Amino acid sequence: MLKNLKGKKILITAGPTIEHIDPVRFISNSSTGKMGYALAEELHKLSANVILVSGPVSINTTLPASCIVNIKSANEMLLVCKSYFDQIDAAVFCAAVADYRPEFISLSKIKKAETLFSINLVPNPDIAFEFSKCKKANQVSVGFALETDNLISNGYKKLIRKKFDFIVLNQPHQSGSGFGYDTNKILTLDKMGKLVEYDLKPKSEVAKDIVSELALVFAHKIQHSNN
Ligand code: CTP
Repeated sequence: MLKNLKGKKILITAGPTIEHIDPVRFISNSSTGKMGYALAEELHKLSANVILVSGPVSINTTLPASCIVNIKSANEMLLVCKSYFDQIDAAVFCAAVADYRPEFISLSKIKKAETLFSINLVPNPDIAFEFSKCKKANQVSVGFALETDNLISNGYKKLIRKKFDFIVLNQPHQSGSGFGYDTNKILTLDKMGKLVEYDLKPKSEVAKDIVSELALVFAHKIQHSNN
């Protein structure tokens, strides 16, 4: 089954985005990018044609530099991803994209004052949702969701809205799972409502589980297109 990933063009988003306030300050989150990089490395090992669009991370990767496009903000991530949307076989949206960015970026460092200070935030583009608007029947889309509450129902809503073939779910308060850890405990939920629960394991092993599910989706798509 994994053989059908060979030569597949797979876009992966990873890491956080950073949204500048001024030249030295920004809004971001604590995503380390480890899960996205583990997936990209696993897919590369299986001879997939990987394009990893990565926010700022500190990871030593075995991936060739030619596979990685470094970006900072959500808008930059969208621009790069959009340029690949019509050529890819699959997209895996692993990045923790900042939901908002400052309305204006100050060109100079903002000086301290003794008064209340506020920043207007405007919504960022949703990259996975943008892909869902142009996704073709033979393209696969995989999402991620970290939920503190109502994991399954919130995950399912995202899966439907963003037209994911399946979504990888996890909870931040489970020990050893989520941002910053080298391990993860995931569930996957597909659009037929099939739920698979995996054990806590190293992210490199979690990547293998996700890649196996991706290979299965491709196999189903091939079967359906032949019928
Ligand atoms: N995603 C994305 N672009 C965004 C926000 C999210 O591509 N601007 C992708 C993520 O990479 C993930 C999925 O959408 O695969 C769900 O992300 P999440 O942050 O959980 O969902 P949101 O739609 O932002 O909902 P909320 O933060 O309100 O839970």
